[in-house]
Amino acid sequence: MAKLYAKRPKGTNPLIWIVAIVCAILAIAVIVTGIVVFAIYVIYQPKMPYIKVAYAHLDQLGYEPSGMLEIRMALKVVAENDNKKAVASFSDATFVLRFHGIDVAVLQTDPFDVAKNSSAELDYLFQSSPIPLDKEGMEAMRVALNRGVVPFDFGGHARTRWRVGIFFSVRFWARIACQLNFVYRNGSTVDLDCGSKSR
Ligand SMILES: *[C@@H]1O[C@H](CO)[C@@H](O)[C@H](O)[C@H]1NC(C)=O
Ligand SMILES: *[C@@H]1O[C@H](CO)[C@@H](O)[C@H](O)[C@H]1NC(C)=O
Repeated sequence: MAKLYAKRPKGTNPLIWIVAIVCAILAIAVIVTGIVVFAIYVIYQPKMPYIKVAYAHLDQLGYEPSGMLEIRMALKVVAENDNKKAVASFSDATFVLRFHGIDVAVLQTDPFDVAKNSSAELDYLFQSSPIPLDKEGMEAMRVALNRGVVPFDFGGHARTRWRVGIFFSVRFWARIACQLNFVYRNGSTVDLDCGSKSR
């Protein structure tokens, strides 16, 4: 018995075989995943969800010549999902409103989903605390009030991805950065055009 055993020809180490089989399975898995992802793109043609400012209104602007600014504003941000077959999810939505580089308000929203071919509205109504403007900010506010149009910078981002069944895209940042111009007399915006979609 012992002799017979010793005569066995030297073959490939079983460990090598196991490694080879595992590698083959992994390679097949990668190919199958690739085909499935490609099929989802062809069949569902998912579009990236995006965010935009749908409405903004400066309800109140209190400004003292000492440089103290206080505002009340209503903002409606819309998260759009144009996909007819994919659900979109949004997370880490954070927006900042600034006047001349000075933070006026920070707006944050918990993660949420947007159904197929649908949109979600994020309504913000906020009252800032009195914010001291610096010298340049005071000069910018003086010019703005003379013109009757007050500009604020609105910026922010949300992480978003679409989902089809158990498959989902990687998360990517939808970023938004624009200037919101308000008519001082009535608080309306001028030429509102503010979205994360690249055009
Ligand atoms: C998607 O929404 C639009 C308008 O909201 C509607 O006209 C259209 O029929 C919808 N399509 C599907 C496939 O639900
Ligand atoms: C606000 O004032 C601007 C400029 O005077 C005007 O164009 C706009 O229609 C007004 N908006 C409303 C809602 O009255």
